[in-house]
Amino acid sequence: MKIAVGSDHGGFELKELVVQFLGELGHEVESVGCHSLESVDYPDIAEKVCHQVQEGHCEGGILVCGTGIGVSIAANRHKEIRAALCHEAFTARMSREHNNSNVLCLGGRVIGPEIALDIVRTWVETAFAGGRHQRRLDMFS
Ligand code: RB5
Repeated sequence: MKIAVGSDHGGFELKELVVQFLGELGHEVESVGCHSLESVDYPDIAEKVCHQVQEGHCEGGILVCGTGIGVSIAANRHKEIRAALCHEAFTARMSREHNNSNVLCLGGRVIGPEIALDIVRTWVETAFAGGRHQRRLDMFS
């Protein structure tokens, strides 16, 4: 799976761990920044990740900011993006099975690395269930 990954400064350290972890799992990563702890604006990063997904360059995206809230608000303003802010693996799994989330959002100042990587693994390994859930997603368009 090819996954676009991005963060602002608040999510930078966790984002670096996520990039490394995805590589270890055998996924291809398109990293859109940021590249240091220097302050950047999360809407810009969210736009870059969403663009990769919208254009079909990546099958999914992962965004990290301090809380995960800013990037999830920003990502969900983009057409065809279903961004899910997750703090544990259950909602990550359900966001794929039921909501076909195509962007995962994480809060680098909220969850620790073990929980975060558990969420990431669950999210990339879970498929959309389709059926009645597709009918509900169709109601958005
Ligand atoms: C940056 O300080 C912080 O506001 C940002 O990372 C995020 O938490 C916003 O929702």
